[in-house]
Amino acid sequence: MSQNQLDEIKKSALNDFEKAQNRVELYNAKVQYLGKTGAFTEIMKSMASMPKDQKPVFGKKVNEVKDLLEKLYVHLESQLEQKEIQFRMQNEKLDLTLPGSQTVMGHLHPIQVVTEEIFKVLSRLGYSLRTGPLIEKDYYNFEALNLPENHPARDMQDTFFVDKTHVLRTHTSPIQVHSLENEKLPLRIMGTGPVFRCDSDISHLPHFHQVEGMCVDENISMADLKGTIAYFIKEFFGRELKTRFRPSFFPFTEPSAEFDCSCPVCKGQGCSMCNNSGWIEIGGAGLINPKVFEHAKVDTSKWQGFAFGFGIERMAIIKYGIEDIRLFPENDLRFLKQFNEQS
Ligand code: DAH
Repeated sequence: MSQNQLDEIKKSALNDFEKAQNRVELYNAKVQYLGKTGAFTEIMKSMASMPKDQKPVFGKKVNEVKDLLEKLYVHLESQLEQKEIQFRMQNEKLDLTLPGSQTVMGHLHPIQVVTEEIFKVLSRLGYSLRTGPLIEKDYYNFEALNLPENHPARDMQDTFFVDKTHVLRTHTSPIQVHSLENEKLPLRIMGTGPVFRCDSDISHLPHFHQVEGMCVDENISMADLKGTIAYFIKEFFGRELKTRFRPSFFPFTEPSAEFDCSCPVCKGQGCSMCNNSGWIEIGGAGLINPKVFEHAKVDTSKWQGFAFGFGIERMAIIKYGIEDIRLFPENDLRFLKQFNEQS
């Protein structure tokens, strides 16, 4: 390898570097000269056979050329990058007519939607909203509601016990007691929220939601209860549905009833939703048992009241014709999206 050859290689490398139109071409040129199998590796190899005294001088020159090319590479690369950016800026147009990227908006869970619909109807009758603790003292869940220890009616509600004196509330009825203890009468409240029972199949969930209504005033009778329920059913289902009361038993009401509405699907003709009976069971109700009032130290010579309670999932199933209650907690978006009120 001679000085002349080195000059030739330098000249052609400078030429190829300058000629590159973009960063890819420039990089290819760099590999051709400075890469592992490039021209400069060949020069280094050829130096092995050079006379010893010439090696340092020639080696220094080789390094100077390599250095020069590496610096030129960095310089040209940033120049080409700037050019590419400028080119893109000039050619990319902002098209304001293109559709924007849509933000996916969430919406309320169907159980919340139905709860709010129920509340809308009851609030027109003067009811206001209450909640209560999910872990209840046995006293509030059972005893104060006239369900003393060992009372057989406790068996109607398969209970999750937290410890000996606390349970996951099995119903929203304890909200009645909290209000009776803490609030001024007369009262109209709607209590709502999750309740828990050790039960799970196509029509039962271990964690579901209830609504509790309670009205306490003077001169309250069963007629007030019936009128309230009939109004509620008509308003909630949005149709002229009939209401029916059947005698029943709940320890916290006396007399007690279960109430049904005529089937909103077949309008009383009989279908699979109503087991061909034309009626659908909604919930329980009755006049508040004086024993409940006594526990809460309410003067029973002055105040009477009625209460009612029902499951929210069940109301949603009836209203929307849903077959399996387990769809609610599954959170499958294909199911939930059908309840988007905005769409
Ligand atoms: N708490 C009852 C249950 O979960 C439902 C119920 C029945 C509530 C009668 C009431 C009532 O307020 O008066 O089975």
